[in-house]
Amino acid sequence: MQKIIITGGAGYIGSHTAVALQESGFDVVVIDNLSNSSVASLDGVASITGTRPCFECVDCTNIEALRSVFNRHSDAVGVIHFAALKAVGESVQQPLLYYRNNLDGLINVLTCMLEFQIPNIVFSSSATVYGVPSVLPVTEETPLQPATSPYGQTKVIGENIIRDTVLANPVLGATLLRYFNPIGAHPSGLIGEHPNGIPNNLMPYITQTAAGIRPMLRIFGDDYDTPDGFCVRDYIDVNDLAAAHVAALQYMLKGATGISTFNLGTGRGYSVMELVNAFQESTGADVPYQIVARRAGDVPAIWADASLAGRVLNWRADTPLSETLKSAWRWQQNCKK
Ligand code: NAD
Ligand code: UFG
Repeated sequence: MQKIIITGGAGYIGSHTAVALQESGFDVVVIDNLSNSSVASLDGVASITGTRPCFECVDCTNIEALRSVFNRHSDAVGVIHFAALKAVGESVQQPLLYYRNNLDGLINVLTCMLEFQIPNIVFSSSATVYGVPSVLPVTEETPLQPATSPYGQTKVIGENIIRDTVLANPVLGATLLRYFNPIGAHPSGLIGEHPNGIPNNLMPYITQTAAGIRPMLRIFGDDYDTPDGFCVRDYIDVNDLAAAHVAALQYMLKGATGISTFNLGTGRGYSVMELVNAFQESTGADVPYQIVARRAGDVPAIWADASLAGRVLNWRADTPLSETLKSAWRWQQNCKK
């Protein structure tokens, strides 16, 4: 069995990817410091797949501890680096925390990969690297824009760190995956997104409002230059996203070298109001909302041209939105129990 190390594997996207990797026959080692997750997600992975991933509770910014884990798992054939802090607003308040955690962590992971000759890295990047795009949909060739937050900067800089490292070390191959807006949960309802405190993101805010945990969803702005005035995003099912990581690894393991970059989205944009309405229709749950002022820093509209991933990885996001919304609701209801 080929071994894959996933940093941040106890988190939202990491835990779904652990399931997808195990279901594809990989042996999974999770490295996570549990700063934004708990081992309950690994219990969920174990219930779904019948196998509990090996868990190493380590902070990627601690090079000595990380080196010791890599030493024990030096037979790994690849690393998926999810571990990062991701709250955009918090990153504006605490930039050094974000630069240290996200960039020191990445540098340490790359250092260990070179030391132990682990040849493939998949990196969690983000559509945030495109800033406010002037042409839609965005392709991988769309020029990158200055990031609007320290969090976004860590993705732009992280991509560059990996590019330079691969250029200097051709034994290393890298895939940069630019996620659009991941939503939903595993269909079993056993794993899902577990935000700490008040959610920043739309989907968990919708499900928590429908569950009565929040009194009201605030919709930020109805005066954008979009068809219905609300912001538009490309919402991708987290299980489809997880499958793309497996496809990316398999592509590299078949011999692809150098750096590949892929947008991961559905290719279709939905406005905030369309998403709220689709959620209510798919689940029958009511979402009280009020329309308030725009949120600072929001991009009016962005969606992906993800056709490159279709052509090269033979991957596409094909889960119907209604299934994704139902899974998010199922997970939310399980969280209350
Ligand atoms: P998450 O917070 O659920 O998962 C990240 C995991 O990394 C958590 O389990 C956390 O405990 C762990 N972690 C953080 N810093 C660490 C460190 N120094 N050492 C070890 N573990 C550490 O977030 P997610 O939504 O699963 O995001 C995964 C990756 O995808 C992140 O890199 C994020 O920036 C990126 N991303 C997420 C989104 C999104 O909307 N969810 C969009 C684009 C990109
Ligand atoms: N929104 C609301 N009310 C809320 C939360 C969000 O109306 O309570 C709106 C936002 O204004 C935006 C849309 O819902 O129009 C989506 O917002 P999210 O916060 O869910 O997602 P973003 O597109 O702002 O940000 C996400 C990730 C970031 C990443 C960015 C670009 O959270 O990490 O995509 O990839 F940087």
